Amino acid sequence: MAEFISIFSQLGYVLVPMHCLKGYTSSKKFLFFPIQSNHGCLKSYLYIARMKKVLVTGGAGYIGSHTVIELLNSGFIPVIVDDFSNSDERILSGLEEILGFSPVLYRCDCTQMEEFRKIFQSELPDAVIHFAAFKAVGESTEQPVRYYRNNIDSLLNVLELMQEFNTRDLVFSSSCTVYGQPDELPVRETSPQKTATSPYGYSKQVCERILEDFCFANKNIRCALLRYFNPIGAHPSGLIGELPYGTPNNLVPFITQTAAGIREKLTIYGNDYSTPDGTCIRDYIHVCDLANAHVKALEWLDSHPQTCEAFNLGQGRGNSVKEVVDTFVKINQTPVQAVMGPRRPGDVEQVWADVSKALEELNWKTTRTLEDALKDAWRWEKHLAQ
Ligand code: UD1
Repeated sequence: MAEFISIFSQLGYVLVPMHCLKGYTSSKKFLFFPIQSNHGCLKSYLYIARMKKVLVTGGAGYIGSHTVIELLNSGFIPVIVDDFSNSDERILSGLEEILGFSPVLYRCDCTQMEEFRKIFQSELPDAVIHFAAFKAVGESTEQPVRYYRNNIDSLLNVLELMQEFNTRDLVFSSSCTVYGQPDELPVRETSPQKTATSPYGYSKQVCERILEDFCFANKNIRCALLRYFNPIGAHPSGLIGELPYGTPNNLVPFITQTAAGIREKLTIYGNDYSTPDGTCIRDYIHVCDLANAHVKALEWLDSHPQTCEAFNLGQGRGNSVKEVVDTFVKINQTPVQAVMGPRRPGDVEQVWADVSKALEELNWKTTRTLEDALKDAWRWEKHLAQ
């Protein structure tokens, strides 16, 4: 049996004991092999599958961890690379509880080339989903060099290693921030990119340009640039979700922490914008819908040689900050103390997506509402308090 397993492993097949299959037994890609115990009675099964191995940088982070689940549900094998600079061990235990086993994990900072190379060497991934990056708009205006160093270096390392180890497919975690404040809404992938309003935003514009140049020069590499609008919510199990270190920068974790009594009050950054209620408008998307888009993008890349395509990922409509707070209070029957404050540097006034390209090309659309996301975010916050 050991010999048999070793041959299959060398061919890129993966063996997992039957009891670890909770949650993804339905995939047709799996083959099951009975294993006999010493006494001849049936002990367990192994399943063997030839699936794509996907290196998920930042896979213990917010969007990364939800994507790991979607990958496994769709027959891919995720390998997590994370340095835990903005993620938490509790996400790993949540993942383990949801999946019934621990996914493969390497603790590594992607800017550390030698360590990172060893991971490519031993895993030989078929694809990479590159999440690992700093992402706070406000913080980036205070620490621009740290943002450029981390976000650009880590991408360059990914690209050099993909070349070195013949990894073909890349899904890049980009952002609607690349549009700056667009002239026309909803914003389309072809809309001109205005001056970025923050170093974070500029780092994403630069990374996208690097990827276009890279794909032009390396015709065997295929790349999808996924421009996220505003990811919110949590896994419906309440076992994983967003877990910011320190004071949250993003709106929804600040709302849930205020509702939980961790923060005294939420400050709404500006109510003098040219919007119906004066507060900023964003396109909020449930993190599980967003995670699913990564799987769709990998499948799409498979049939699209020589490509570097951008896709907007959002609900396709905007909600104001005030609407989000009011919806949270209503749907969860939980009060949130909110006060109006000054504008936050780097914020754009309003942005929402035209998502028709993702629907047409990736066959992807959202299935969850703002209400679902805010319910799930609150369930996660309550889970953290336990
Ligand atoms: C930005 C990017 C988004 C990216 C995210 C990563 C844009 C348009 N969007 O989101 O693609 O994924 O960074 O962090 O650049 N707010 C408050 N009070 C708070 C916190 C936020 O009023 O305590 C307001 C902000 O002013 C903003 C809205 O809530 O209007 C959403 O803010 P946030 O959640 O931080 O995300 P963005 O900065 O829009």
